[in-house]
Amino acid sequence: MRTIKIGIIGSGGIARAHVEAYKQLPYVEVAAVADVVPGRAKQFAEAQGLANAAAFDSHDELLKLPLDGVSICTPNVAHYRTTIDSLRAGKHVLLEKPMSVTLAEAVDMVAAQKEAGTLLSIGFQPRYDPNMKLLREIVQSGRLGNIYYVEVGGGRRRGMPGGTFIRKELAGAGALADIGCYSLDMALNALGHPRPVTVSAYASNLFGRNPKYHPEADKFEVEDFGVAMIRFENDLVLQFKISWAMHMDTLGPTLFLGTEAGLKVTPYGTGPWSGAWDGKIGSMTLYHDEFGTHTHTEIPLIEHKTNLFFEKVRDFAEAVRDGKPAPIPGEQILIQQAIIDGVLRSAEAKREVEIKLPE
Ligand SMILES: NC(=O)c1ccc[n+]([C@@H]2O[C@H](COP(=O)([O-])OP(=O)(O)OC[C@H]3O[C@@H](n4cnc5c(N)ncnc54)[C@H](O)[C@@H]3O)[C@@H](O)[C@H]2O)c1
Repeated sequence: MRTIKIGIIGSGGIARAHVEAYKQLPYVEVAAVADVVPGRAKQFAEAQGLANAAAFDSHDELLKLPLDGVSICTPNVAHYRTTIDSLRAGKHVLLEKPMSVTLAEAVDMVAAQKEAGTLLSIGFQPRYDPNMKLLREIVQSGRLGNIYYVEVGGGRRRGMPGGTFIRKELAGAGALADIGCYSLDMALNALGHPRPVTVSAYASNLFGRNPKYHPEADKFEVEDFGVAMIRFENDLVLQFKISWAMHMDTLGPTLFLGTEAGLKVTPYGTGPWSGAWDGKIGSMTLYHDEFGTHTHTEIPLIEHKTNLFFEKVRDFAEAVRDGKPAPIPGEQILIQQAIIDGVLRSAEAKREVEIKLPE
């Protein structure tokens, strides 16, 4: 079996989960680690038992090695430079979510990927949840008829991060980018990635900016709440709502309304951090008419024991080894980056705006 060599760029919290997954794959060698904080990559390699891994204080040095692929695990603001440089160096890339800080960055990344001909896969592990796969299968099956309305989202009663997450130039967006990206991926992946055309949105940071609710209120620059009505090319509308903080227990279930049936999806658990968007579905109910009466069917959920994170890393490694397509192509995720960009522009302009997707 061919061994593939992988480098890790950014050796913080999530990099550990990548390395733990790679270590379980006998055909993968984690051959290098890079981190901008001097000495941190070396320390990380030692702590992870990567005795033969080279350690660097910059990703430029790491990219000179004959690696097959890299896992990019830096904060959002560094995704752009590290991804572009890795693709241009001919490496396959597994990039952590969210894809980018701005839409322009995501557009450039996809162009660089096409030019390089290597893989660019984005780390949305909830896609590996078997009930998320089942949701997609139901939506794609045609059982719902013509789907004309989708409502998706959710959030936390209180759960606002701080640090880099709340600085606009570092994170791009707040709750929209942090948890909204999962929520959008859940809906868009089930729907088969339709093309959005316009959005009318509202976004606010009434909790984040209030010292009563956030210790870094004076530094809070992003939104803690967002709601949007998005129109798609095929006359589908999607209502999207996301919250890091609110005086409410839930923003309601995820709904798919079709001409033949409707599907309601609720999250697993009801705690402040729960949400179907992160890959934990609690129930799926199909509403339909039979013999002239209104009825509904509870879809039996699938029990899942394996680790979603492992599956995402394994799928990427297999794609690199076997020359398969990217498991979660950057081109698909570009659509949600365009939506998030449109939501922010519309919220600022306080009117509907067009969503700019590259041809
Ligand atoms: N998929 C998931 O479930 C999940 C969960 C948590 C975080 N994430 C994502 O993973 C990314 C990293 O998050 P984290 O929690 O590990 O952050 P972290 O701060 O723990 O680690 C990031 C590391 O990257 C290093 N770094 C910064 N700029 C760099 C650069 N240019 N080159 C090399 N190293 C650089 C930092 O020094 C730090 O050690 C974020 O994009 C986050 O959104 C994904």
